[in-house]
Amino acid sequence: MVKNICCIGAGYVGGPTMTVIAAKCPHIKVNVVDINTKRIEAWNHSDVSKIPIYEPGLSDLVQQARGRNLFFSTEVDQAIKEADMIFISVNTPTKTYGVGKGMAADLKYIELCARQIADVAEDDKIIVEKSTLPVRTAEALKNILDNTSKDVKFQILSNPEFLAEGTAVQDLLNPDRVLIGGEQTEEGRMAQKALVDVYANWVPSDRILTTNVWSSELSKLTANAFLAQRVSSINALSELCEKTEADVNEVARAIGTDSRIGSKFLKASVGFGGSCFQKDILNLVYISRSYGLQEVADYWEQVIIMNDHQKRRFASNIVKTLYNTVSGKKIAMLGWAFKKDTNDTRESASIYVADDLLNEQAEIVVYDPKVTAEQIYADLDYLNTRSSEENRKGVTVVNDPMECFDQAHAIAIMTEWDEFKDYDWKSIYNKMLKPAFLFDGRMILDHDKMEDIGFKMYTIGKG
Ligand code: NAD
Ligand code: UGA
Repeated sequence: MVKNICCIGAGYVGGPTMTVIAAKCPHIKVNVVDINTKRIEAWNHSDVSKIPIYEPGLSDLVQQARGRNLFFSTEVDQAIKEADMIFISVNTPTKTYGVGKGMAADLKYIELCARQIADVAEDDKIIVEKSTLPVRTAEALKNILDNTSKDVKFQILSNPEFLAEGTAVQDLLNPDRVLIGGEQTEEGRMAQKALVDVYANWVPSDRILTTNVWSSELSKLTANAFLAQRVSSINALSELCEKTEADVNEVARAIGTDSRIGSKFLKASVGFGGSCFQKDILNLVYISRSYGLQEVADYWEQVIIMNDHQKRRFASNIVKTLYNTVSGKKIAMLGWAFKKDTNDTRESASIYVADDLLNEQAEIVVYDPKVTAEQIYADLDYLNTRSSEENRKGVTVVNDPMECFDQAHAIAIMTEWDEFKDYDWKSIYNKMLKPAFLFDGRMILDHDKMEDIGFKMYTIGKG
């Protein structure tokens, strides 16, 4: 039975996942380790509301388990030595150099973990791939471990994570399924069972699926590709709706009631963001091409092409509607996170829309309930479109949303934060220059009511 778990990587996945394991399995000691000292300090902050990741319900669980059987530290070697089971939950970003640049997953952090484990492990370990990885990565991991370790045996499992940010705790407590891929040998099945037993502390057994390693690795990329494809599909139709006076919400409801299609993940938007959809589909495209499967690669690549188009067309629609110039015009952007209830901004559509508007010399004011000014500037600087001084000149970040609207020409709703729905829109309208334009990229406001107030209203997917 597993008694001691180590997780390498204390990020959006490692942190919440291990917190839930520790909360549900008080008999297992869980060590979460990371090389990022600042992040570990934040996980250990005496004020639990200061932990580095905002997720509803997370701080309560951390409070409950931290110091009991949940520990955050930078002592990676020590945690590896002590553990029976090691989760690898490090980042696997898109490569920014060399072969596969801009497409393939960068596996250098994974390989570093494997080499470190091989270097310090003194007894047999079960290694769990928690990060999202290209299919057949377990083969490479095994090669490294078997060829560089002392006289130690490793079993490699694939246990991809399906949580979504903003609902991570709920997703972990009550998952649709847990997937565990293992080698189809006696030892492989024993390792698989050890991990099944961990999850069985709170997940019903019919929701714990076991497969071979390759199916499990590929299922993770496939799940994200299917989800993102739905968003791109509905976004493609949102543009057609705008031309034809159909309403994308009504279309989504009409098709979603067909139980074969289902109603979830059919919300048109300013484009999907987040750290994974784009990276995982690019990875799928790259893998398919590397096997010579051109049509398969082209098929999935279209999901990304459509998403880029959706972001770009939202920005260009703002420019076009504001009489073809936004130069010197104040535009309030509500929301910077890639979705509500998270402080994560990775690949958020806001970044690209702001960048396009800055190219047109707009003066942008941003408000997001959870994202810091530092993060917003870092996101823009990362694009390298202009100097960081120019980004700071063009973008003001405010802590009070009501500071956004004075003399603004337009408002763009970028993230579907609930609080935006409850604003006093009449008084906001009064503060703005006229005509007052409102671009709802998330369909969260009542279009007709806003028009009654006097706004010139654009809602995505509404003719
Ligand atoms: P993250 O960047 O938030 O966290 C990764 C952490 O790993 C960082 O804190 C980094 O310092 C640490 N790290 C990197 N190399 C290390 C090393 N050698 N030793 C110790 N620590 C090291 O990333 P994330 O969002 O948690 O994603 C992790 C993986 O999970 C990715 O493969 C991602 O695709 C996948 N995933 C993410 C989500 C999500 O919602 N973010 C959901 C499912 C799967
Ligand atoms: C997604 C998946 O939902 C998770 O199952 C997966 O584990 C995770 O990626 C991952 O591998 O990282 P996440 O990116 O956190 O989770 O959030 P989603 O809820 O999937 O939203 C992704 C993006 O799509 C957001 O920008 C969201 O606003 C957008 N979206 C989602 C829409 O525009 N319309 C929808 O109907 C749904």
